[in-house]
Amino acid sequence: MNNRSPSDLSPNAPEGHAALALFQLAPDPIHLNHGSYGAVPKIVREAQDRWRAHIESNPTEFFRNELPAELRRLAGVVAQRFGGKPGDWVFCENATAAVNSVLASSGLREGDEIVTTSHVYGAVLKAMRIWAERFGAKVVVVPIPAIVESEEQVVQAIARSFSDRTKLLIVDHITSATAIVFPVAQIVSAAHARDIAVLIDGAHVPGHLPLDVEAIGADWYTGNAHKWLFAPRGCGLLWTAPQHQTRTLPVVLSHGAPAGYTQAFDWIGTRDATAWLCLEEAVRFYDALGGESLMARNRKLAATAGELLAQRLGLQITAPAAMRGAMTCLTSRPSSMNGARASSAMRHLRECCSAVVPVYLFEDALCIRISAQIYNEVADYETLAKAFPIAMQQSLDS
Ligand SMILES: Cc1ncc(COP(=O)(O)O)c(C=O)c1O
Repeated sequence: MNNRSPSDLSPNAPEGHAALALFQLAPDPIHLNHGSYGAVPKIVREAQDRWRAHIESNPTEFFRNELPAELRRLAGVVAQRFGGKPGDWVFCENATAAVNSVLASSGLREGDEIVTTSHVYGAVLKAMRIWAERFGAKVVVVPIPAIVESEEQVVQAIARSFSDRTKLLIVDHITSATAIVFPVAQIVSAAHARDIAVLIDGAHVPGHLPLDVEAIGADWYTGNAHKWLFAPRGCGLLWTAPQHQTRTLPVVLSHGAPAGYTQAFDWIGTRDATAWLCLEEAVRFYDALGGESLMARNRKLAATAGELLAQRLGLQITAPAAMRGAMTCLTSRPSSMNGARASSAMRHLRECCSAVVPVYLFEDALCIRISAQIYNEVADYETLAKAFPIAMQQSLDS
């Protein structure tokens, strides 16, 4: 199907609030949480509508003859951008599905240990615990403070936790709660020196940081294209090192499963495949906004915004600049803080000050995480800096 539209973006794409028109985002509130769910550009949404209409025109032809070849062609697009071979890449609904599939395929046995860090994404930790229990294995959570000083600190803390029983390490590339870029290549080297397999959870990474999966050298790498690469939601990616492909299967097994890795993931029963089918349109949009220079612009804006908020609000940033991307997490330990008050502050920010930004506790520290995307500008964070003390006060009063 020709999926191009006459409304392709010009090279002089808008930025800041002028770029809101490229999305379906309402101009009010201020959107400072691109990281959690992304935002689908209109042009990508239109492509998705066209795919849906195309599928409905002849579902039998589409599912039997078109989809398998199209998924493999798109795996080639992913490989060209993020490294590896097309046959190393499969599509999943999201990073959560990919992590569960790797856990199910990991071959863990009774007495084995899976290591992760205290910055791991909560849902992934829950899944690790359930799979570990099924295998009779144990989850070891390495404590890493909310505020990190250096890459070595992270690598050493993880490496110190390895034992002869450690069989699998799961580490975030960009941590969700604390927005820290972990030195994944160094972490993988340390694990491989002890013969430990590594899954890197790069849910936030595609489109956010430069990515070359082979240079990182993990055993599995998962990422979402529906956050920073502008794909429709449900566009998860999984890369598997060739030596693990025979044993790596999805959690849900269907027609393709006996045929091996790519076939098993490509057919998990009848599903809505349109998020994956729009990947190329999303990548074109991303490139039209600048690609690598968009990444650099967002990173710079997140750094500027982080410094501004840290200064105005007396908060601390969770990591040095070199360990940050297009999100910045700011933290403090005010007295009388709890989860309910953090949620209440987030609600007040939205209701009274029209800013959508996650406010939560990480361990017992108050955290506020800002994202910087093409549609954001410094004025957004100025507004947040004014609103935050009001919302915090309101959360105390309510
Ligand atoms: C590190 C990490 N892993 C996994 C996820 C889950 O992503 P999804 O809900 O798309 O599966 C997230 C979500 O933000 C995340 O930050």
